[in-house]
Amino acid sequence: MKTNLSFFTPAEIETECLVAVALDRDEKDKPQVSIETSDAAVKDAAADVIASGEATGKAFETTLLHHPVKLKAKRLLLLGGGKAKSFSAFDLRRLAGAAVRTLKSRGVRSFAFLAPEAGLKAEDAVKAIVEGAFVGNFEPDYYKSDRKDQKIEALTVVARGDQAKLQQAMDEARIIGESQNFTRDLVNEPSNRMTPTILAERAKKMAAEVGLKCEVYGADKIKELKMGAFWSVAQGSDEPPALIVLHYEPAGAPEKPVLGLVGKGITFDTGGISIKPSDGMEKMKYDMAGGATMIGAMRAIALLKPKVKITAIVCATENMPSGKAQKPGDVQIAMSGKSIEIINTDAEGRLVLADGLYYARQLGCTHLIDAATLTGAVVVALGSINAGVFGNDEQMYERFSKALSKAGEKMWRMPLDDEYKEIIRSNIADIVNSGGRHGGAITAAMFLKEFAEDVPWLHLDIAGTAWTEEQKPWIAKGPSGIALRSLVEFARDFAG
Ligand code: BES
Ligand code: MN
Ligand code: ZN
Repeated sequence: MKTNLSFFTPAEIETECLVAVALDRDEKDKPQVSIETSDAAVKDAAADVIASGEATGKAFETTLLHHPVKLKAKRLLLLGGGKAKSFSAFDLRRLAGAAVRTLKSRGVRSFAFLAPEAGLKAEDAVKAIVEGAFVGNFEPDYYKSDRKDQKIEALTVVARGDQAKLQQAMDEARIIGESQNFTRDLVNEPSNRMTPTILAERAKKMAAEVGLKCEVYGADKIKELKMGAFWSVAQGSDEPPALIVLHYEPAGAPEKPVLGLVGKGITFDTGGISIKPSDGMEKMKYDMAGGATMIGAMRAIALLKPKVKITAIVCATENMPSGKAQKPGDVQIAMSGKSIEIINTDAEGRLVLADGLYYARQLGCTHLIDAATLTGAVVVALGSINAGVFGNDEQMYERFSKALSKAGEKMWRMPLDDEYKEIIRSNIADIVNSGGRHGGAITAAMFLKEFAEDVPWLHLDIAGTAWTEEQKPWIAKGPSGIALRSLVEFARDFAG
């Protein structure tokens, strides 16, 4: 999708469709619905449909007018943005996605979006619109033989303000939006087409394109590094595992800090010997979403060039039952030296991450963030609205929380009290890999904490949010690309 800025008078813009946000002002003695533009001609064109009560400003309401009077645009789309009082960049991002999705399904290929002025900085508005439009333009129907590939080809954002600043906001948003879709591409692939080897190849290709260093290691190196936890999952599969390492070392960055991004890359999770029920098992192709998110985040980082060192590690393998698979009761020694009693082979994500986190520390990372589709329990706790975020460091959490709101992503902090550690105590080893159903997302995070130790660390459990189960006005059903934008904003802020 091409993107460009326009400073034209909206009424003068020749486009297939002009999109204006309609807000519900809900104030006494004033018009209830306001069209977010200062152009009187656009307001006039919308006046009748507002007066008739057809356009109310309700969130995601779409009212499409053809041949709007006195406008050069072929159509005018009024897009409801909800209550004006609470309107934010978060809403605008979703509205831009909704504009893309309604218009592309009607055969429109290009449109102009009027950046609303409602309390937003123009740069923030442009960024939200462009990011949201990229998110909305993604379709997961790769393997339909009659795939229509109806996409928006060009987006114009109509704004007012400092041209250089707005252009920069637009360029950054494009990098972030494209990287998020790059991640969604990887997650969308089924496991026969996204093996650990293929994931590593995709990471390598991307790294070459954007100038990152990429190393890929196989089973030999995993064993040589004594990654007993990672290998215990990989040993059961005929498909070779891959340890993917990406380095971003910009000129002029200080030696420290070094941010480590560690991703769970289970390309298919059958559960292993503790096999999952077959109902819904097909979804376990997205169990590499955390890994794909880190690879996509590194793409954005390489292009945005924050002045800070960042290393990404993705532990990629299948989790399969076989004659070589690990069994409940087995004891494994992690790279850190800690011994783990395997209670449930389906709690495999924490095993590969244990070694990934420890390896990141060995490579010199001073701060760690992991992302993983780690537990069904986080889905029970938070549903598909918020991802779970856990951390052992207040300052790092505060910074991440700021990045979340910048990125317009929702995550909810969960506790990590020492008392939870009791639940993962083992009779014969240091810890067990499963604490059972109670507080399942927390005990999983407590397990990871054992390997982050005293290094400032955040854990993102994206099991409920990495895959959108129902389509929404702003996003297709399928891979969501959650966490990428926040990770990128965090990295940029981290560079100071
Ligand atoms: N990959 C799953 C978690 C998951 C569940 C991801 C639903 C996406 C949607 C993970 O490996 C897993 O199986 N976790 C187990 C842990 C349990 C055995 C302690 C779970 O949550 O049931
Ligand atoms: Mn599992
Ligand atoms: Zn899993």
